[in-house]
Amino acid sequence: MADDRVALRLRGVTKIYSLADSEVIALDTVDFEAQAGQVVVIMGPSGAGKTTFLTIAGTLMKPTSGTIEVAGIETTKLKEKELASIRRENVGFIFQSFNLLESLTALENVRVVAAGGITAPASDTNRARELLNMFGLDHRLHSLPRQLSGGEKQRVAIARSLMNNPEIILADEPTGNLDYKRGQEVMELLLQISVELRKAVVIVSHDHRVREVAHRSLWLQDGSFRDTIVTANDPVCGQLVEVDSASAVTWENKDYYFCAGECRQLFKANQQKYAKRESK
Ligand SMILES: Nc1ncnc2c1ncn2[C@@H]1O[C@H](COP(=O)(O)OP(=O)(O)OP(=O)(O)O)[C@@H](O)[C@H]1O
Ligand SMILES: [Mg+2]
Repeated sequence: MADDRVALRLRGVTKIYSLADSEVIALDTVDFEAQAGQVVVIMGPSGAGKTTFLTIAGTLMKPTSGTIEVAGIETTKLKEKELASIRRENVGFIFQSFNLLESLTALENVRVVAAGGITAPASDTNRARELLNMFGLDHRLHSLPRQLSGGEKQRVAIARSLMNNPEIILADEPTGNLDYKRGQEVMELLLQISVELRKAVVIVSHDHRVREVAHRSLWLQDGSFRDTIVTANDPVCGQLVEVDSASAVTWENKDYYFCAGECRQLFKANQQKYAKRESK
């Protein structure tokens, strides 16, 4: 069945960054599959290896060992030129910072990733326009990024990721720069893309709300996927934390778990406020 197609497969992927006097094992023998028509969310604390994972999955960086299959093609032995065309045809990227070109309009930003680039044929312009229309940006086609809101920029970035009709969409913290409502809209858009356009959508994030739209969610920590992790939301910042390793405070017979930041202190200073918010 077409829907069971594995669009992206990583096997035994390890990534070690070498520093002057030490090494960082950012990914440790990771296996992963993503199928067409599914949203997979990878969550985990800062430094867990999420961006490293996505960069390697999108063939922008080679792993230290292991293999990456994109649309059935094993990529680790390919040359940069071959990789570039595999990426262009099969992978759409959505970055946290949008990565739009400031001197190009919304329409040009979407069109530019097509094989013809900025001197694209009319068919590319039409496709770029259709994608922007689909995301409610028909009145912003000729706006520059600085004339767009954060949510609008993110929708241009999503339209751009679809320009070449890739099988796989990779998104790094797609809601990171957006407020709650815009973040929710972007997540729903990604869900719609995966289901209606039959794309494999892989999202990495430490925003727990992204799980709401996921068909599958995985927890990455210290470079490996953990499947038996118990998580809770930090009542102050809302971040998802691993219960086993988070610092905890008990208040009125209930345990609360905190991220590595100042949230524990803030909670202690105003327990009633945060405990009430959490139980909503
Ligand atoms: N270019 C690099 N050189 C050396 N170490 C790196 C490099 N990039 C990342 N690291 C280290 O690898 C680990 C994983 O980093 P990565 O950026 O993948 O984490 P992340 O889960 O995306 O974190 P965040 O949620 O903060 O974005 C971290 O310990 C980080 O310090
Ligand atoms: Mg990151």
